[in-house]
Amino acid sequence: MNTARVALVTGAASGIGRATALALARDGLAVMIADVQDASDSVAAVHADGGQAAAIRADVRHDAAAMVAAAVQAFGRLDVLVNNAGVFYPIDMLTAAFEEWRRAVDIMYFGAFHCAQAAARAMVAQGQGGRIINISSVNAFLGAPLSSHYNSAKGAIDQLTRCLAVELAPHHILVNGVAPGFVETPMALVNGVNEHETEEFRAFYVARRRIPLARPAEPDEIADVVAFLAGPRCRYITGHTIVVDGGLSATF
Ligand SMILES: NC(=O)c1ccc[n+]([C@@H]2O[C@H](COP(=O)([O-])OP(=O)(O)OC[C@H]3O[C@@H](n4cnc5c(N)ncnc54)[C@H](O)[C@@H]3O)[C@@H](O)[C@H]2O)c1
Repeated sequence: MNTARVALVTGAASGIGRATALALARDGLAVMIADVQDASDSVAAVHADGGQAAAIRADVRHDAAAMVAAAVQAFGRLDVLVNNAGVFYPIDMLTAAFEEWRRAVDIMYFGAFHCAQAAARAMVAQGQGGRIINISSVNAFLGAPLSSHYNSAKGAIDQLTRCLAVELAPHHILVNGVAPGFVETPMALVNGVNEHETEEFRAFYVARRRIPLARPAEPDEIADVVAFLAGPRCRYITGHTIVVDGGLSATF
């Protein structure tokens, strides 16, 4: 019987989720990676790093119970859920079809709830507490054009974090969030263009230091904060979302 702590990370075929799987595995957790994409590269990266991981091809909108069952079947238990799966595509609210708007909310908000519910049920049944970490965004508390679907979903996630923290505290399940600013991942590609490489981004966010640290984050700089919230050094934080944005939201 495997006795390592076990994490389920959604959307870990790529970007922040993949870096999180690696960071948690380095901390000794066995990691179940759940993604709609093939995640065998992420599993191989964890194995190459000396860690334990497996993957399930699954959609957070429909397969939450299957993801949790896969983690328990592969590694014997579940201690940590990282709700990371997400999508961004621009939407003009004047012309958008409601279904396109709703797709982002279905994946990032309802998907996070389904996974939190399935994971919390498993954690409560184990009776040894647990951690749920929701990947939010600075977009949760800032406005932006063409982003009403994304920002609404992220705002709702922050409120879910607070409410689940209160409701699950009697079960010793800590619920927190991490809100990145700009991160160097495939999500920065909008219509085939990496927004971090545009003239506008460099002039405004870097040269004029709209991001005080004058660069986007690397995925592991977000993953390290998730790993802290998942780990033994975090014992008395619950219901909060830690902003990891290089100072972006501390200035104007
Ligand atoms: N990149 C940024 O600048 C940034 C900033 C703030 C917050 N975030 C958030 O970080 C999280 C990770 O984003 P990323 O930048 O690593 O993007 P990414 O595109 O590299 O990774 C997202 C992953 O989620 C998976 N996914 C999408 N829909 C899914 C579904 N229905 N079920 C399961 N998996 C699904 C994708 O296949 C992909 O592997 C997202 O929640 C995103 O909103 C990203």
